[in-house]
Amino acid sequence: MCGIVAYIGNKEAYPILIKGLRRLEYRGYDSAGISLVNAGLNVYKCKGKVSDLEAFASGKDVSGVVGIGHTRWATHGEPNDVNAHPHQSGNEHLAIIHNGIIENYDSLKTELKKRGHVFKSDTDTEVLVHLIEDVQANEDLPLAEAVRVALTQVVGAYAIAVLDRNDPNVIIGAKKGSPMVVGIGKGEFFLASDATPIVEYTKEVVYLEDEQIVELRLGQEVRIKNIENETLTPYIQELELHLEALEKGGYDHFMLKEIFEQPKSIADSMRGRFHVESGDVSLGGIIDYEQKLVSAKRIIIVACGTSWHAGLVGEYLIEDLARIPVEVEYASEFRYRNPIINEEDVVIAISQSGETADTLAALELAKSKGATTIGICNVVGSSISRVTDAGSYTHAGPEIGVASTKAFTAQVTVLILMALRLAHKRGSIPESRFHQMLASLEKLPKQVEETLKTASLVEHISKQYKDVRNFLYLGRGYNFPVALEGALKLKEISYIHAEGYPAAEMKHGPIALIDEEMPVVVIATSKGNYEKVISNIQEVKARKGKIIAIVTEGDVTAAELADHVIEIPDTEEALVPILASVPLQLLSYYIAVMRGCNVDQPRNLAKSVTVE
Ligand code: F6R
Repeated sequence: MCGIVAYIGNKEAYPILIKGLRRLEYRGYDSAGISLVNAGLNVYKCKGKVSDLEAFASGKDVSGVVGIGHTRWATHGEPNDVNAHPHQSGNEHLAIIHNGIIENYDSLKTELKKRGHVFKSDTDTEVLVHLIEDVQANEDLPLAEAVRVALTQVVGAYAIAVLDRNDPNVIIGAKKGSPMVVGIGKGEFFLASDATPIVEYTKEVVYLEDEQIVELRLGQEVRIKNIENETLTPYIQELELHLEALEKGGYDHFMLKEIFEQPKSIADSMRGRFHVESGDVSLGGIIDYEQKLVSAKRIIIVACGTSWHAGLVGEYLIEDLARIPVEVEYASEFRYRNPIINEEDVVIAISQSGETADTLAALELAKSKGATTIGICNVVGSSISRVTDAGSYTHAGPEIGVASTKAFTAQVTVLILMALRLAHKRGSIPESRFHQMLASLEKLPKQVEETLKTASLVEHISKQYKDVRNFLYLGRGYNFPVALEGALKLKEISYIHAEGYPAAEMKHGPIALIDEEMPVVVIATSKGNYEKVISNIQEVKARKGKIIAIVTEGDVTAAELADHVIEIPDTEEALVPILASVPLQLLSYYIAVMRGCNVDQPRNLAKSVTVE
């Protein structure tokens, strides 16, 4: 969602801000803007892409060593030039950029209007900058203090950066419920919603905590206070992010690069966590809370979107191997439906970004009821990884394509390891099966590499289906979540309607949709209900549907029935979701490219959904 970048130092800010905004494009946005302090305060903003902003600012005064930049994903008010950030105070002395939602903006606006404030936009953000102006004027406070006092009146989530033309050597940042990171360079500071715009300038960062206000003043140290006005010591960390990970590295799209990175991201997510010979599996990050998991009466997994699909695979794994009951909940439903949670429950939150608002809120609810909370996140230092009692990172590296690919398979990898560890501890898995699974797990990265060789075949198949209007995806058992994930990938990047279904459920409704126009992707791998899936394929064929089958290499039965066959290497049934997902990712990718869609930044979508 919205992106923030700010710079104060000894260089011209404009090129740094523009480059930073480009790095933030992956988060999804519909308008962009910047503000620079020089002799005055210049604001340039418009609907559209960062390139539109550059065109708009071209030939105008973009000088200045202090500036803020924003990419906006509309929440309050349609995407247009006026609603784009930065917003200015009524006296035009202040400029603000904001991520999040000010929930009480309406009552604040009414109050401010009574005091003579006039608003130009429909946004909640403009209300906040007027409020800061109001505090500044009435109480004659310096900017940092005015921001702090204004924020005490705000309900909601925010990450903000504020400039003041009357105090041109300072940027004030603050956050609550929306991430914000400070970069410390030599004689310069950066402020951003994530580290991607900062990494090429400095590795020294401070992740702000909720209700902290940071003052970045030229020639001084970083100063942090909390909303209660107490001074805090900044905790400076080293950034674990490399620039190459943020570039396409010769691929046409980030999504394709990330699909092809999976042998490595899966291997990285396993590295050091198990040993085939000794039969040892361990997830260091959860060791202190492992006993809670081992003796849990119930595990609840909360997540959204693709991470929810990984959670569903997790349910199958943990119940099958460790014999602990698992419930998988959409975080957005869980948080509002008054769920029964108690101290014996363990709640696992799965999130690539570690910032998804609903998942974070679901966790906080679980925590407040006394449950133990565990995170499976990809972004180190993210909000979810910090609020959970313990966690295991997926080591997928930065995922820039909006459609999640390598993060999904890394999440499933960690869940496999977790299920195996719990199963071993609880004695619910026979030793021989345990060792067999570890041996199969070790082979997975190589098998993913093999599976990626299907790319040209998948591209060829994609050509025949790029213009269809609907797709159905079917799978049973472990492959049911794979069907859901395959359908989600296709719809989000190609805008073709697609549904994932448990194969046997087809008879209870979706079969009515099948005719010669309807492609049906069936995951028909050899282990687990194979014959039953074959029957489902026959049911589709009898109604002239087109079958694209994902089968185990060497399969003949499904291959004879299907219109197209994509073979994947043989592995344990519980590990198939990782291999079977790869051709489905490729299918959605190639179809989207052939339809001319913006694969890495699909319309309306944001990479990190920080509002509910
Ligand atoms: C789909 C996709 C989304 C995310 C969802 C949760 O490709 O990426 O469905 O999975 O928004 O995001 P995280 O995992 O960051 O919590």
